[in-house]
Amino acid sequence: MEKIMWGETFSVGVRDLDSQHKQIVMLVNTLIEMSDTRVDSEIISDTLTKMTQYAMNHFKTEEQYMLDYGYPEYPAQRKQHQEFKKRTADFCMETMLHKVTVSAEIFTYLKLWWTNHILQEDMKYKKFFNDRGLR
Ligand SMILES: [Fe+2]
Repeated sequence: MEKIMWGETFSVGVRDLDSQHKQIVMLVNTLIEMSDTRVDSEIISDTLTKMTQYAMNHFKTEEQYMLDYGYPEYPAQRKQHQEFKKRTADFCMETMLHKVTVSAEIFTYLKLWWTNHILQEDMKYKKFFNDRGLR
């Protein structure tokens, strides 16, 4: 599977959030790399857990900015974040239980979710935050 290519198009215009997104994308790319080589599922499980923890922390920061600045799309963002949390919690459980194979569905989901979420949903707050001096 192709990795996520980070470029300027991924920048949401807020330094904190960009660097958090970058770290998460790096971890997702590590997982994609692991999906191509036969890496022990325990290592995959650890990386998946790490990515999930980074994501939780990131959602907290992002949602706090939205609340602080009264971002109107906050409910939609919160809903997407919650769906992601639920889905990855299931994935983490699944990976821990099935010690041998990790389904490719996990990697596809992570890649598509982050790419679509950053480029579509998060991109909507770029101008909103920038106009209010948050960069
Ligand atoms: Fe988001």
